[in-house]
Amino acid sequence: MSIVTTLTRMWLTRTTKPFTFTNQYDRTLPYSECDGLGLYVHIPFCRSICTFCPYCKTVYSKEKCDRYIDALLKEIELVGNQRNGRKTVTSLYFGGGTPALAADRIGEIISALQKHFEITEGIGLELHPDNVTPETLRTLKAAGVTKISIGIQSFLPKFQKILGRRPVDARAMAAALREVDFETVSMDFIFALPEQTLDDLKSDIDAAFATGANHVAIYPFIDFTFTGGNVKPLGKRQKRDMLDKITDYCLGKGLKRDSIWTFSSEKDAKYSSMTRDNFLGFGCSATTLLRKQFKINTFSVEEYIKRIGGGNLPTSLTIHFTQRQRMIYYLFWTLYSTRLDPNDFEKFFGVPLKKMYGLEFSLARLLGFLTLENGIYKMTLKGAFYYHHYENYYTLSYIDKMWGIMRKQAFPEKIEL
Ligand SMILES: C[S@@+](CC[C@H](N)C(=O)[O-])C[C@H]1O[C@@H](n2cnc3c(N)ncnc32)[C@H](O)[C@@H]1O
Ligand code: SF4
Repeated sequence: MSIVTTLTRMWLTRTTKPFTFTNQYDRTLPYSECDGLGLYVHIPFCRSICTFCPYCKTVYSKEKCDRYIDALLKEIELVGNQRNGRKTVTSLYFGGGTPALAADRIGEIISALQKHFEITEGIGLELHPDNVTPETLRTLKAAGVTKISIGIQSFLPKFQKILGRRPVDARAMAAALREVDFETVSMDFIFALPEQTLDDLKSDIDAAFATGANHVAIYPFIDFTFTGGNVKPLGKRQKRDMLDKITDYCLGKGLKRDSIWTFSSEKDAKYSSMTRDNFLGFGCSATTLLRKQFKINTFSVEEYIKRIGGGNLPTSLTIHFTQRQRMIYYLFWTLYSTRLDPNDFEKFFGVPLKKMYGLEFSLARLLGFLTLENGIYKMTLKGAFYYHHYENYYTLSYIDKMWGIMRKQAFPEKIEL
């Protein structure tokens, strides 16, 4: 564990206590009391597995996928039946893996959720480039999907080769996207790949908008220890240079930055499952964040199906937050959107931000990470880089350790971070 993340955690949570996750889980989830609740559904199947990818996934088979979705529908019933009536929620996102592989059953999952939840801000779903065909897009649209996110990584064959993926057929993709339209068409790119230049990245972004995207997500490449990949990211200085310059490039093109790594060309184009105050997650590896707790489902497809078969929730680990821990979680993910309204913090926690973290926010302004404009904190270019840099540490210190363990053990007893 990095000393930087440990010290930062101690300072911000005002305790030496680590984040402790245990296998004792709650049978009811108190989500009724949560406003701004989002929904997430994980579909852990891919046609083939990319060596760089940390997510919970396994090779697709129709039989396994159908059994999994039958269990998923039961999990939705188990959680949805915990309260009467339909709870209003923000958005629903399907992530993976490659949820588009289950396109023929997405409508069934949405209907099961709509029995218990009223979705007000649209439905998003991830696709592999191979899934971008008029037929699959039509099926998804008919099911109620309003936003799609396509994992391009790069339009340049050189980088697809480095990542062990096949080149993308941009022409066929553009034709399919012209035929079936969505409110948001987002495309994922990875930057800081070996030998990648700013011009390579610029050409990818231009190609995205020419191919039919109205939103792009540009993720820094992260080399997870447990994935077994052998691609090494560019160094810190080159990464920073690339992040700053690509941000300038996107803003110069008139794109709007709506989070650290995402830019959109249209006002209503949004794709983010992360910046939610609270969320309920369904499926393997899905996480649930409520007012005082965070839980993570098992990573094992078979154990997931078994738990649900026994009428139990598939929770693997739970942490009951202290107030400061919850505040840190809130601040970290809210700042991902590059802005923070102190009034929202006060509404959520019932205590002013200034009282809890006045010193830290003054320091962040002094160091040039944040500005205060009309009462709203806004992240500067420098702030965005350091956020990104810290997030890299956080990912490699916390997520890498936790996911590394959870990939091997379906229900670990305890994890301390
Ligand atoms: C679930 S995948 C997207 C959908 C589909 N499975 C695909 O690969 O096309 C989510 C995204 O995470 C990003 N990603 C995966 N591994 C990454 C890594 N090691 N570093 C940075 N981004 C990564 C990729 O941009 C990928 O598109
Ligand atoms: S990057 Fe996408 S296709 Fe590749 S293994 Fe990860 S989820 Fe599957």
